[in-house]
Amino acid sequence: MKKFIIGTIISVLLLTIAIGIQQDLLFAKPLPYDDEQKGLDTQITIHLSHVVAENTPKGQAASKFAELVEEKTNGKVKVHVYPNSSLFNDENEFQALQNGNVEMIIPTFSKMTSNLPNWQVLDLPYLFNSDDEVHEVLTGSIGEQLLNELKPFHIKGLGFWHNGFKHITTIDHPIHTFEDLTGLRVRTMPSKTLEKQFEAVGATSIPISFSEVFTDLESNAIDAQENTASNIYSKGFYKVQKHMTLTKHGILGYAVLMNENFWQSLPTKIQKQIMEAMKETTDWQFKQAIDMNKEDLQKLEQQDNFEVYTMSDKERQRLKEKLASVYDFYRNNVQNNDVLSEIEKIVSP
Ligand code: SIN
Repeated sequence: MKKFIIGTIISVLLLTIAIGIQQDLLFAKPLPYDDEQKGLDTQITIHLSHVVAENTPKGQAASKFAELVEEKTNGKVKVHVYPNSSLFNDENEFQALQNGNVEMIIPTFSKMTSNLPNWQVLDLPYLFNSDDEVHEVLTGSIGEQLLNELKPFHIKGLGFWHNGFKHITTIDHPIHTFEDLTGLRVRTMPSKTLEKQFEAVGATSIPISFSEVFTDLESNAIDAQENTASNIYSKGFYKVQKHMTLTKHGILGYAVLMNENFWQSLPTKIQKQIMEAMKETTDWQFKQAIDMNKEDLQKLEQQDNFEVYTMSDKERQRLKEKLASVYDFYRNNVQNNDVLSEIEKIVSP
C-alpha cells in the first residue's frame, strides 16, 4: 500500500513537470522587454465628457469612437462617454482636461477661441458653401496646422469633427431679412467673431453655456439663438421658439481633444490603435452628421407651433454682404491671417 502511494505521488510529480515543460511554464525565459509592451497588460480607461445629447452627430461619433477603440485594442482601452454635460459643462471642461480630471473632451472650435484666437477663422460667416469644403479644410493640412496650436496648452488634438451649418431660431417673429434681427438678444457660443457677426446686424450676442440655452429661451432671457438642426431638435429648442430661418450662415464643428500627459503615458501601440479608431470615426461621422441634420430638419418641419422658413437667395446675399465687416474685424485681430488665405484657396468665392 505504502509503495502504491509513493508510486502515485512520483507519477503525478513527473506528469506535472512534463506538462510544465511542454507549456513553457517551467524554465520559460521572460519575454524580451520593449516599449511596445509597456502597460499592454493593464486596463486603460478614458473618460470622455461632452455637452450634447447622444442622438446627435457628436454624441453618435463619441459612441462609435468608444466602440472602435475597444475593438482595436482588444478591450484593453475602455472609453466611458458622459453626454449632456453630465460630467463637465462648457464652462469647466477645458480646465478639467488641462488638470487631467478628464482624459477627453470634444468642444466646438468656437469655444476654444478665447485661448486660440486663430480658430475664429472657422466662425467667419459664409466662409464655407458646402459640407465637402468643410471636410477638406478640417481633415487636411489646415486642420493639422490649427491642431498644432494646442501644443502650448499641453493638449493633444486628435482631429476635427463636423456637425453642420447653423440657422437661426426666434420666438417673436421670423427672420426674413437681416433687418428682422435688429434689437434681438441672441445666444451664441463664446467667440469674438460670433459677437461681431450679430453686432453687424444690430443684434446683441449673449454667450451662454449650451446646458443653459433651453431654460434661458423658455424664460425669455434671450430671444433667439443660432444652431444646427440636430442641436435644435435634440435639445428641444423648438418647444420654446416659434420660428426657424434657414440661413446657413456659418458652421458648427468640434475639436477632439485629449490630455497630453495621458496621451504620452500610453504605449505606442495603443496610441496607434486610438489614431486608427479616430480616423475611421472621422470618415464615418462627416457623412453621418449630414444625414442626421437632414432627418432632424424634417422632424422640425413637422412640429406644431414651429415654422421653418428658408431665407431667399437674394436675402442671403444681402446678409452675406452686411456681414463682410466681420472679416475686417478678423483680419485686424488675429495673428495668423494665412489660415484664412489658405481656406480661401479651397472654398468657392
Ligand atoms: C455642441 O454642439 O457641442 C454645442 C453647441 C452650442 O453650444 O451651441
